[in-house]
Amino acid sequence: MGKETIRFLMIGICIIKSSCLLYINTGTSANRNSTDWKGNYSDITTKFSVRSAEEPEEDLCYLVPGVKDSVTHCSFNTSLPTFAIIHGWSVAGLLESWIHKLVTALFKRVPNANVIVVDWLVLAQHHYPSAVANTRLVGRDIAWFINWLEVDLKYDLANLHLLGYSLGAHVAGVAGNLTNNKVNRITGLDPAGPHFEYAEQANRLSPGDATFVDVLHTNTRGSPDLSIGIQRPVGHVDIYPNGGTIQPGCSFQYTLESIKNFDIYNLNQILKCSHERSVHLFIDSLVNQQQPSVAYRCSSKDAFNRGLCLSCRKNRCNNMGYGINKIRTARSTRMYLKTGAAMPFKVFHYQMKFHIFHQQNLTLNEQPITVSLFGTHGEKEDIQLVLSSVTSNTTSSFLLTTDVDLGELLRVRLQWNTDSYFSFFNSNKFMVRRMRVKAGETQSKGIFKAESNREFADLVQGGDPVTFTKSKEARSSRARKRTNRLQMHGSSFGLNGDTTGRSTSPWSQH
Ligand SMILES: *[C@@H]1O[C@H](CO)[C@@H](O)[C@H](O)[C@H]1NC(C)=O
Ligand SMILES: *[C@@H]1O[C@H](CO)[C@@H](O)[C@H](O)[C@H]1NC(C)=O
Ligand SMILES: *[C@@H]1O[C@H](CO)[C@@H](O)[C@H](O)[C@H]1NC(C)=O
Ligand SMILES: *[C@@H]1O[C@H](CO)[C@@H](O)[C@H](O)[C@H]1NC(C)=O
Ligand SMILES: *[C@@H]1O[C@H](CO)[C@@H](O)[C@H](O)[C@H]1NC(C)=O
Ligand SMILES: *[C@@H]1O[C@H](CO)[C@@H](O)[C@H](O)[C@H]1NC(C)=O
Repeated sequence: MGKETIRFLMIGICIIKSSCLLYINTGTSANRNSTDWKGNYSDITTKFSVRSAEEPEEDLCYLVPGVKDSVTHCSFNTSLPTFAIIHGWSVAGLLESWIHKLVTALFKRVPNANVIVVDWLVLAQHHYPSAVANTRLVGRDIAWFINWLEVDLKYDLANLHLLGYSLGAHVAGVAGNLTNNKVNRITGLDPAGPHFEYAEQANRLSPGDATFVDVLHTNTRGSPDLSIGIQRPVGHVDIYPNGGTIQPGCSFQYTLESIKNFDIYNLNQILKCSHERSVHLFIDSLVNQQQPSVAYRCSSKDAFNRGLCLSCRKNRCNNMGYGINKIRTARSTRMYLKTGAAMPFKVFHYQMKFHIFHQQNLTLNEQPITVSLFGTHGEKEDIQLVLSSVTSNTTSSFLLTTDVDLGELLRVRLQWNTDSYFSFFNSNKFMVRRMRVKAGETQSKGIFKAESNREFADLVQGGDPVTFTKSKEARSSRARKRTNRLQMHGSSFGLNGDTTGRSTSPWSQH
């Protein structure tokens, strides 16, 4: 790293730190009273720009609450679905480039729709705490606008979908809380964290703000007070791609390597890379309809990373983004998935599980392995992984992802790499009888046996790779066993039920 780079890094950290201090010092400024407004449109400062598919970047026409002529003038069709995009905090006072990309993607997916860009730049362009306080005012403006649509234009709110990014997600929440009737859906795209993590529900996005609220969390790091994105779940379904912390292709190191001229503009791009990823994941879900990314319900990021949560039973999995199934539960549902670093972001998830036999008691931490997968449609070779802990006579489970659709998995090749030069002289050996693999996207499970004629395969540290092939008989005999068991219980409900067969299932860990 050159001196110049370090200087800019320092500036970056100062930007983060000073804004963080500002956040803390003015913690109560968001409690503005906004319930006492009356039917008077004249103090609405928020602008409602009706966009077109042909010129998605242009502000061609504004809907003006209270002015019916603006509806015909803007060709706003009251019988079509409407998307309203709400931007976040603005440093530059300009709409960011993702906005027209999202407009374009919405029109691509739903050609017969109204797309509105809610412009509150005038109130968003202040230092962060003031912009936070202004979310109440803007939310009230939008609520009033929505009431006008519903009352005067007879617009059906079941057709209305608000999409809010960062601070805009909370603006959408405030709006949804203040309308006469509920809007159909609010999508929160990495809702802002500072000031909102502990805010009361009326002042932030929450599940009550729309019939269905879905949220993507893509930049939640550090302590809750300082995280750019909100960490707590705030919707009916809260999805944490890649754990919700830092997104692939967004790490400081990665970005520093990929850019030559390190300046303030690029610094800004780095700082918001993970934050803005939420928008691009949603755009991906709009334009790559045939390949939706699937997220899985899980109690924690760690359990997900061990591959323990790849189930789709009882709504445990869902599509991420536009095509999500609107499942509402009393408590927010936390879901996880992995993604790639660029569009299309979809990856395929696998749980790999095997029992390790060894004569001696032995625990090894941080073991590097290389896995290759071969399927009916394709293959993915040399996936590098580190197993956090391997212990004799226990079962190891880990998550593996590929960016290619392998089809039905046929073979798995596993190599235990050596973690030091010294292990060459004293290499450990584990014995593995078979691997169990579960594919998240297809929900298929298979048993894979070592290709050698012996019952066990030797997995040698620093040794040769071992190949496991799908065992057809094992699968059918398992299926037969299950059928017998169900017949014993005298019912076939057990196929979807929670109790029957659960204790004997090798996949019953979670
Ligand atoms: C908020 O508005 C209500 C109703 O008009 C009023 O009674 C209350 O005093 C206001 N609160 C504040 C903090 O201004
Ligand atoms: C609407 O509000 C503005 C500013 O708050 C005020 O000047 C105006 O008289 C109000 N109009 C009506 C009809 O209440
Ligand atoms: C509004 O959309 C409906 C449904 O697509 C269509 O039948 C109608 O002609 C449209 N109205 C206008 C004024 O374009
Ligand atoms: C608005 O939020 C408050 C506080 O959470 C809640 O009591 C109220 O029911 C909400 N109103 C609507 C219409 O959701
Ligand atoms: C492994 O350790 C357990 C307790 O830690 C002990 O009971 C057992 O005898 C050990 N087995 C071998 C083979 O050393
Ligand atoms: C592991 O299991 C094998 C076979 O059941 C047994 O022979 C061996 O002693 C066990 N090792 C330990 C460390 O308990």
